[in-house]
Amino acid sequence: QVNIFNSGPATQVQKFIATLRKGPPNTLTQLPGNYLGPILNFQQGQKVRVFFNNNLKEPSIIHWHGLHVPQHSDGHPMYSINTGEQFVYEFEVLNRAGTSFYHSHSHNLTAEQVYRGLAGLIVVNDGDEAKLELPGGEYDLPLVIQDRSFDSQNQLQYLHAMPERIMGFLGSNILVNGKPNAEFSVKSRAYRFRAANGSNSRIYKLGWEDGTPLTAIGTDAGLLAKPETRPYIMLAPGERVDLWLDFSGRKAGSQLTLYSLPYSGVMPGMYDRMHKDGGGMGMMHSRLPQGGKFPIAVFKVSEKVSDSPKLPEKLVSFQRLTERDVDNAANPLPIAISMQHMKPLLNGKSFAMDRVMDFEKVALGSIKKIKIFHDHDSAGQHSGGMGMMGGMQHGDNEHNGESGDHKMGGMGGMGGMGGMGGMGGMGGGMMMEMAHPIHLHGQQYQILSRNAAKVKPADYATVKDGFIDSGWKDTVLVMPGETVEIVKPFQDYKGLFLYHCHNLEHEDLGMMRQFYIG
Ligand code: C2O
Ligand code: CU
Ligand code: CU
Repeated sequence: QVNIFNSGPATQVQKFIATLRKGPPNTLTQLPGNYLGPILNFQQGQKVRVFFNNNLKEPSIIHWHGLHVPQHSDGHPMYSINTGEQFVYEFEVLNRAGTSFYHSHSHNLTAEQVYRGLAGLIVVNDGDEAKLELPGGEYDLPLVIQDRSFDSQNQLQYLHAMPERIMGFLGSNILVNGKPNAEFSVKSRAYRFRAANGSNSRIYKLGWEDGTPLTAIGTDAGLLAKPETRPYIMLAPGERVDLWLDFSGRKAGSQLTLYSLPYSGVMPGMYDRMHKDGGGMGMMHSRLPQGGKFPIAVFKVSEKVSDSPKLPEKLVSFQRLTERDVDNAANPLPIAISMQHMKPLLNGKSFAMDRVMDFEKVALGSIKKIKIFHDHDSAGQHSGGMGMMGGMQHGDNEHNGESGDHKMGGMGGMGGMGGMGGMGGMGGGMMMEMAHPIHLHGQQYQILSRNAAKVKPADYATVKDGFIDSGWKDTVLVMPGETVEIVKPFQDYKGLFLYHCHNLEHEDLGMMRQFYIG
């Protein structure tokens, strides 16, 4: 029996205890002095039982993002438990080797609970992967990227004001594996870094400072068929990418910085501009704009070594799913993104706990084509929505009036909103569009196509080479105006499985729906 206390010096303490009984001794990798949960190491085929004890003063439930598990163990918010209660998860690890992550999923509380530390990595290993002799042990490292803000007491600061809720919270500091100013001491050889974006809403464009390309060997929850080398890699909230970082040939004492490189177009133009023009509008508290350039981690070569594993030409084999594998090629299931009254919606609806029986039905065992797109018809109602937001903003300020800081930010935001409301008609439906990382629970899917005809080419050019669509995915970044078609199997388990935007503020605002598989 192992107890894990998830707390850290720089955080308001959030404690939870996960207990794994009779697990192999290496099931947990502790990250000492860290507000992230320990890494859970699973083998494909392993049967897992987790005892989740809620010691928070509010409800919580944990979801195993990326793992294909039965409804009961998937962390649907309807299973949220109260203070002092215990939830027992039981599942078999069906996934192939890859990286997933667990996090809180209690509706309306997800964003803040994850923000304050209820998240950790899951590593699944299998036999196919073992044959590849990829870098292991001390050469196989986590790279969990999060942005956080701290108050004057150095405590985590989370804002509930309207701009943060509607656009997503952006923190001012970048943490890697729970630490600021991350540094890795590496040998001159190849490493496997399991990068995960555990941020609430920040999208990273990973790239080396010196323009060296990046190589991926895996996406969300599985290894690729073969490595992919890109000038940069986009990583949206909820996404993972297995990186092959090769320092061989580099001198001892040299160092290399991994950056988030600049890109544009994921926020509505108006916000983008307000942001860049600086604090005048007071819209966002973060000193790091979405799409700005900033360092993520420094890699210092400590020691020159002569041998290094070689990057395999081929990784694992799996079936590439196509239109021929689905039973609804002409009739894809829609996931329509829209915005109404300052609420981001899926298929025109908002998730609420008293509507958990509102779902789309899918036959168990089927493989479906799903079309994720921006719905301009409902998006057209924006100018009305703007007026609404002014009102909500005001209410919010009164509510959060205790902090002068927040109030200032909020008031600035209100001014900004007023301006936007006035221009809503001009901008039309496109104006409020932003990028959304769309996540589907259950089995992994594959990406069939992207149609960026309606995306501003100048913006798309800053991100398009960073999408790795050749592997298994569970979260996909959909740019404003973009349409993404995916193929998803609905096998093995009956029941309710969520799909939602992984901008966690959007998720909490109700940008979430569910499939009933049966
Ligand atoms: Cu990572 Cu339903 O979430
Ligand atoms: Cu998930
Ligand atoms: Cu979203």
